[in-house]
Amino acid sequence: MIAVDSVKKDSIRSHYQLGTLFYRLLWGPHIHHGLWSDNETANETSAYQAQCQLTDTLADLAEVTSADRVVDIGCGMGGSAIRLARLRGCDVTGVTLSSVQRHWAAFSSRIKRLAGRTRFLADDAEGVVFQRNSFDVVWSVECTEHLFDKPQFIDRAARWLRPGGRMAICVWFEGEDTSRSGHRRQCEEVCERFVCPSLATRADYVNWMIHSGLQIRHNVDWTDRVARTWEICKRRVRRSGVRHLARVLDREQVDFIDGFDALLGAYQSGAMQYGAIVAEKPSVADAA
Ligand SMILES: C[S@@+](CC[C@H](N)C(=O)[O-])C[C@H]1O[C@@H](n2cnc3c(N)ncnc32)[C@H](O)[C@@H]1O
Repeated sequence: MIAVDSVKKDSIRSHYQLGTLFYRLLWGPHIHHGLWSDNETANETSAYQAQCQLTDTLADLAEVTSADRVVDIGCGMGGSAIRLARLRGCDVTGVTLSSVQRHWAAFSSRIKRLAGRTRFLADDAEGVVFQRNSFDVVWSVECTEHLFDKPQFIDRAARWLRPGGRMAICVWFEGEDTSRSGHRRQCEEVCERFVCPSLATRADYVNWMIHSGLQIRHNVDWTDRVARTWEICKRRVRRSGVRHLARVLDREQVDFIDGFDALLGAYQSGAMQYGAIVAEKPSVADAA
């Protein structure tokens, strides 16, 4: 695991309080990578579609249905939560560190007449309390990078699942071999610019899940299918006044916007990977 000392919980919260505006301007209501098929071109029109494709593909892997109670950890502006409630008919509780995002998500959900099936909390995933066995799906897309004690989170979240429930996560991973020259520094730069206290490998996550009693169902590498996200973001920054706006409002947002190349470079060199893991809590009969 690669960790940096400079990132604090407050810096993550304030990044998302103000940064939500920049994410919305640059990328839309989903604050996560797009997922393209190998033969699809990454153009402007496909970007939103690719973000939806990532949500839908993860939902298929996790077999989310209308019967499910889902908790979306690090729900952002509610992109996934609202889409899952609308298209899968499930009940979703979203949790975000940012009160701005909570309001944004609740408002978007009301506009889409989904307030009855969604609710949003401004809370810390590392402290929030839910009953044991209270969810069918723990969903978390690109949030665990921001957590300080990742194994403890996985363990607590596994307890929130009922037997037969699934944990579905999308993660920015540390690459498998960061001993190679320059890789560690590339990961550290991404951590600093994107306010991640640490990055862990795919194998770390798999081990934590198994240790928490889960069985791995899917473990997929999507690095090559998501990396073009940052090419599109870079083009959008060049063509818009977003960077100037960031300079006026907050220096840290400029660091974030200028960090797109760092992330892209880390994917290209193998210093980082992107992927999804779905794991299942065994049913009581299986566990016996
Ligand atoms: C990259 S965004 C992903 C947002 C959302 N999952 C999506 O796909 O649109 C990271 C999210 O994690 C949330 N987050 C970071 N640390 C958190 C924490 N300790 N507790 C709850 N949410 C957290 C941020 O507020 C933000 O909503």
